[in-house]
Amino acid sequence: MKMQNSVAIIGLGYIGLPVACLCAIYGYKVYGADIDKNKIDLIKKGTCPIKDDYLEDQFKKVKGKLNVTDNLKEAIKDADIVIICVPTPVDKNYTPDLTALRSATASVSEAMKENTLIIIESTIFPGTTEEIVLPILEESNVKNFYLAHCPERIDPGNKNFTLERIPRVIGGINKDSSIKAYKFYEKIINAAIIELSSVKAAEATKIMENTFRDINIAFINEMAKSFDKAGIDIMEVIKGANTKPFAFKAHYPGVGVGGHCIPIDPYYLISKAKQIGFDHDFLILARKINESMPVYTVELLENKLKKLDESIEGAKIGVLGLTYKADVDDVRESPALKVIDILKEKKAELFIFDPYVKEKSNVKDLNELLEKSDYIILVTDHKEFKNMDLDKLKENKIKIIIDGRNCLDKEKIKGLKIDYHGIGR
Ligand SMILES: NC(=O)c1ccc[n+]([C@@H]2O[C@H](COP(=O)([O-])OP(=O)(O)OC[C@H]3O[C@@H](n4cnc5c(N)ncnc54)[C@H](O)[C@@H]3O)[C@@H](O)[C@H]2O)c1
Repeated sequence: MKMQNSVAIIGLGYIGLPVACLCAIYGYKVYGADIDKNKIDLIKKGTCPIKDDYLEDQFKKVKGKLNVTDNLKEAIKDADIVIICVPTPVDKNYTPDLTALRSATASVSEAMKENTLIIIESTIFPGTTEEIVLPILEESNVKNFYLAHCPERIDPGNKNFTLERIPRVIGGINKDSSIKAYKFYEKIINAAIIELSSVKAAEATKIMENTFRDINIAFINEMAKSFDKAGIDIMEVIKGANTKPFAFKAHYPGVGVGGHCIPIDPYYLISKAKQIGFDHDFLILARKINESMPVYTVELLENKLKKLDESIEGAKIGVLGLTYKADVDDVRESPALKVIDILKEKKAELFIFDPYVKEKSNVKDLNELLEKSDYIILVTDHKEFKNMDLDKLKENKIKIIIDGRNCLDKEKIKGLKIDYHGIGR
């Protein structure tokens, strides 16, 4: 069997670009394609289009080795392996939107050569590979190809579990496809690779992992709201429960769940299950609870202002963070955007700062935000916010701080005579 040594990555985003870098590091000839011409230009110029320490390091290592283009077919035609990493969002009715996946697959179908191995890394509902991707590929003039799903599990910003250190699951449409995919990942992944018996099982694995997280966060958010009424600090309770060496897994409450995965993936299953005759009550409830958190967080501030006989209208509020999680530059589905919308609707005067998204901030730095604000809502636990000098809050006469990530020193802030409220503490 000929050694497969060229890989085309379709979609060079938070998952496609790190995968492309890893393949180049392990000696594959790498073609990359994306419909975003700006992104392609940046990569060609040697600029990493995503702010992420790990990815920027990897990107430096492969300088000049990524052959990128906005012409998908150009990238696909000579590749032995094609990996599809395009977005799989939901539309405004929370229904899976597979436009990008269908269109990328159509390009593969038109341009691939004989014996190409196609791998879908995008997150998809059970059945997508066989019911949607395969029929498009079967329209190709190519007679023989291999198709597998290997859901991507990368956690951008996580320095302990970088791409190559996360175990993978694989499902192929047939045994040959699984074996080929397995052999490929074995070369680039330094962790367990588990072959499942079907594509559907691999698709369902990823959806279940992310749904598990959404449900557990919803549970802890509900506990936080309940314990808040009872005057119990949820963080202390989690610390206590976490001493049980089995059966408890700590999750933390917060201002909301964001990103391209956790708030989206449950809808992929909810929608598919409905189609085949099953209604997911639990998953829908979890989504509802997590989506209520930005409103809840703003209400915490609003209630405090009411007690002071003050209104949120015209209040000078500093919003710390725009991204959905710490130390990344991704604002997709970020609860910060919802918090800002709610505050704008209530006519607050807003000062917004995110060190990773300066172009969407309206003050130049944290100091300016503190100088201009009377109240703070912390949305993202970036290191710059977690490690800030809390005395500056006092110096700048901050009156109330709502800690949407429970990441600040509550006792120290209270000691400074600043009104502190976290989520459930
Ligand atoms: N971001 C994560 O943390 C993460 C983790 C695991 C899995 N995933 C899954 O990986 C997939 C991709 O997510 P992402 O975060 O990398 O998205 P992204 O938006 O960062 O990247 C996708 C890229 O694909 C490009 N693209 C869109 N349509 C295209 C098309 N038709 N042809 C070629 N390129 C196209 C976009 O321009 C973009 O650059 C999704 O299914 C997501 O659920 C994401």
